[in-house]
Amino acid sequence: MKINIAIDGPAGSGKSTVASLVAEKLGYLYIDTGAMYRALTYQAITHEIKPSEEGSLMQLLNRMDFKLSDEGNQMLVNEELLGEEIRTREVTSHVSEVSAHRLIREAMVKKQQQLATEKGVVLDGRDIGTFVLPDAELKIYLFATATERANRRHQENVQKGIESSYEEIYNDLIERDRYDTSRTYAPLKQADDAEPLDTTNLTITEVIQTIVTRARLKEIET
Ligand code: DC
Repeated sequence: MKINIAIDGPAGSGKSTVASLVAEKLGYLYIDTGAMYRALTYQAITHEIKPSEEGSLMQLLNRMDFKLSDEGNQMLVNEELLGEEIRTREVTSHVSEVSAHRLIREAMVKKQQQLATEKGVVLDGRDIGTFVLPDAELKIYLFATATERANRRHQENVQKGIESSYEEIYNDLIERDRYDTSRTYAPLKQADDAEPLDTTNLTITEVIQTIVTRARLKEIET
């Protein structure tokens, strides 16, 4: 039987890449919850709303309709596919503050749960195993050292031809880790029943294989 999979972990731990490929292998839907917080942050910047203005952010969020693409692996906001505009440095530097507001998180969790009503979904984020899908049959907590995470992101940029500074990426990651783990409401933390997976010395293929194997076992048990 199909199961639900929660993948949490710090910034740059490879969650999105891993989660989308795991979903593809299993024929499951993929929901990138970080993209939802990023889309809201992008809209806030466009409408000149400060990341501290919870009320205005809520008004904005209430006007955003999140949907999955027909293939079930990409996010649409008000019928438009999310693109690279949500991955800029400006969005990245404000998204932790936007996502720390309690009302925003409660509304986002609801939207995420509505997208994941059927079995056979992979969600990745910070609070999936703890808040969004507390009953997920498989919970994975992905992590790697900060130097390895920064190095991966730097190499990814270099390969894409994007100007990149290792130092800047490293400092941004540390700052985001600090913010995401220390916020009062729903901080990033490993769920008690999550399986930790240290990816520092693993290739993406190895990480995916490990999770797919665990998922297939759970599918049989369920
Ligand atoms: O995974 P990401 O880097 O795209 O996430 C962007 C930010 O959104 C991250 O700094 C913390 C926040 N986030 C969150 O608080 N809860 C989630 N479920 C997903 C992301």
